[in-house]
Amino acid sequence: MEAARVRFLGRKAELVLLLRTISELPVEERPEVGRVGNLVRKALEGALETRRGELEDQELAQGLSTDQIDVSLPGRRSPVGHLHLVAQTQREIEDIFIGMGYEVVTGPEVETEYYNFEALNTPADHPARSLHDTFFVREGVVLRTQTSPVQVRSMEKQRPPVYVIAPGKTYRRDSDATHTPMFHQVEGLVVDEGITLAHLKGTLETFARAMFGADRKVRLRPHFFPFTEPSVEVDVSCMVCDGAGCRLCKRSGWLEILGAGMVDPNVFGFVDYDPEIYTGFAFGVGIERVAMLKHGVNDLRLFFENDLRFLRQF
Ligand code: PHE
Repeated sequence: MEAARVRFLGRKAELVLLLRTISELPVEERPEVGRVGNLVRKALEGALETRRGELEDQELAQGLSTDQIDVSLPGRRSPVGHLHLVAQTQREIEDIFIGMGYEVVTGPEVETEYYNFEALNTPADHPARSLHDTFFVREGVVLRTQTSPVQVRSMEKQRPPVYVIAPGKTYRRDSDATHTPMFHQVEGLVVDEGITLAHLKGTLETFARAMFGADRKVRLRPHFFPFTEPSVEVDVSCMVCDGAGCRLCKRSGWLEILGAGMVDPNVFGFVDYDPEIYTGFAFGVGIERVAMLKHGVNDLRLFFENDLRFLRQF
């Protein structure tokens, strides 16, 4: 097409040269030659345009027939993972307490004996220390055996009212079907004026029902922790047999889910809170324990073996 254009309409084309010499013709012939010459030029230009259009249409038609895209074909999916059951359960617990106005806080896993024990009313010679099978990092420094040290750190940072939960990893030298050297807890702490054991029970009932179902009942049993007085262990009515007694609850109808109590005034002494003005409650719940009860997992070690056949079920 370009060759044709140069040949018939280029600077050296016959027609163009002819039109350029019009001024040399006799005056009376000039209009007629000019008119016919322009007609011919328009006709040639038109023919070129028509051909260009034809070629472009052909190209488009060919493209459409060879480059077909079937927009109805399914796409290729990239595999997407999901949160580990422990992380899912932790978030579920956090959501429940955030819904009650709590703030989520964290503290260090490598902790001083002061925060892990002493400020929690557990001095060096206290028999409760031996129950914890502590990992020692060096003199005075341990892997925290519980999330309770975050209670003390939170109270040091703020004045009441305190409404916090502290989720995280904890460590104990222990390993069997129901104990692993690392496991997760969520600590809860409330300090305000006029807080009573009834508030603790109501809070834990709300938690148990949100977590395990609206029909769950909660009972408190007397217990001992160095940093709460009175202390309780908290049971929830068995979600498998609804309290009638089955294998999961060992025929008792109840499942232990957490430890709790009213903050011991001695603990307030370490953070300079006035026990004459403030009272509070605290609780600690094992995240794996909650997940095991909720999903019927019977061996704690499954959580940490990372066997995809286990993980994919949740
Ligand atoms: N820290 C205790 C434990 O790990 C649980 C607990 C927390 C008890 C808060 C009372 C209050 O066993």
